[in-house]
Amino acid sequence: MNPEFNSKYYELLQEKFHNKKAKIGIIGLGYVGLPLSLTYSEAGFQVIGFDIDTEKTELLNSGKSYIQHIADNRISNLREKGLICATTNFEKVNIVDGLILCVPTPLNQYREPDLSFIRKTMETILPYLRKGQILSLESTTYPGTTDEELKPLIESAGFKIGDNFFLVYSPEREDPGNKEFNTATIPKVLGGATRECKELGIALYETVIRKVVAVSSTRAAEMTKLLENIHRAVNIGLVNELKPLADRMGIDLHEVIRAAATKPFGFVAYYPGPGLGGHCIPIDPFYLTWKAREYGMHTRFIELAGEINTAMPAYVVQKTSDALNEDGKPLNGSMVLVLGIAYKKNVDDMRESPSVEVMKLLEKKGAKVNYSDPFFPSFPKMRRYSFNLTSESITKANLSKYDVVILATDHDIFNYEMIINNSQILIDTRGRFEATEKVIRA
Ligand SMILES: NC(=O)c1ccc[n+]([C@@H]2O[C@H](COP(=O)([O-])OP(=O)(O)OC[C@H]3O[C@@H](n4cnc5c(N)ncnc54)[C@H](O)[C@@H]3O)[C@@H](O)[C@H]2O)c1
Repeated sequence: MNPEFNSKYYELLQEKFHNKKAKIGIIGLGYVGLPLSLTYSEAGFQVIGFDIDTEKTELLNSGKSYIQHIADNRISNLREKGLICATTNFEKVNIVDGLILCVPTPLNQYREPDLSFIRKTMETILPYLRKGQILSLESTTYPGTTDEELKPLIESAGFKIGDNFFLVYSPEREDPGNKEFNTATIPKVLGGATRECKELGIALYETVIRKVVAVSSTRAAEMTKLLENIHRAVNIGLVNELKPLADRMGIDLHEVIRAAATKPFGFVAYYPGPGLGGHCIPIDPFYLTWKAREYGMHTRFIELAGEINTAMPAYVVQKTSDALNEDGKPLNGSMVLVLGIAYKKNVDDMRESPSVEVMKLLEKKGAKVNYSDPFFPSFPKMRRYSFNLTSESITKANLSKYDVVILATDHDIFNYEMIINNSQILIDTRGRFEATEKVIRA
């Protein structure tokens, strides 16, 4: 331990976390920040949620949820007990003991890391930081962010990291809609800027999260999160590459994957689909690609997986066009219904959804496109896409209106019997149905 180390702040924080007397501030109340805030307050901590989006803070304060899989009563119960509140007033950062940042980390138009949300947040909160606080960054990012971006900034405000201010990186592994795991039961990886930071980071999380996995540095923790998502992107890329090949060979790839998955070791099942979606898998790997260049290295697996995965919507459209052609119809002018516009099943999140790219490509080729998704009664505003549509309900009459139906996202709530019985041609991108003359896998 550093001989000049003043243990006052360290010991005080340890005690506050241990006794659940610490106030927790969560910045960014989205898919990650909201469940995390609820987890802390359900464990008995006082939580202040910070966001720049007044709609979210107002809804939370009136006990209402704005995320489909989070029930209102979870929030209203905590509001009644006075354990949680939300604000856009960042001065209050000063009164919390543990600060957790869950703001977005997208890619910019050149597919490079966009840290502007993290930088903006830091700029806003810097005047309100005080001695004896711990700050944890949870946003996904490249190795070095905590050390190179956050640490110098906090130090520039006069704090001594590891002495009177503590800094950790702990990636979020939230899987929205997953019924088996939640924030509290997903083990939490954590790295500290110093040993004392790491120990306090463990104290910050261990009272609410079942298992904290400490690693040796913030860089190792940042890299861990990227490895997890790169692992997924590359393996999905692999099965997506095999999909057209299996198709030409007359082999059902889903059947093959299911059979391979019976091997009790050494195989992990990944399934092909219409492309990657969501805020994580299509984006995070490229944070490492960008950083690798600084070290004169190329991340070829990441680039190749990206290339294969982004080509999938066009493959689906080609298969749709071929199927219509077999039926003597051109894609131009045909009526196409896309089922599921969320990026994955059973969630109300459309970020980077490949279904929307499929819709755009179809429309570009002259198809008349509509969609059905119970999670989106009307087509939401998106940065890159605009469709003035409302969700078609799945009825016999509606389905039979369409020349072709594309199953893009296989929500459990869909009536699959109705779909199979009433579609003229069904393009199945999820392996939900047996391939037949009418059902084409894509
Ligand atoms: N969604 C997931 O499943 C998931 C899983 C693991 C990791 N992550 C990572 O967690 C981070 C957050 O993702 P998310 O899905 O919760 O994003 P989100 O878009 O759902 O939420 C982010 C929130 O931050 C708020 N915000 C933006 N700028 C702000 C600022 N300057 N100050 C305060 N609040 C601000 C936004 O208004 C929004 O409410 C990202 O880095 C993401 O990669 C997400």
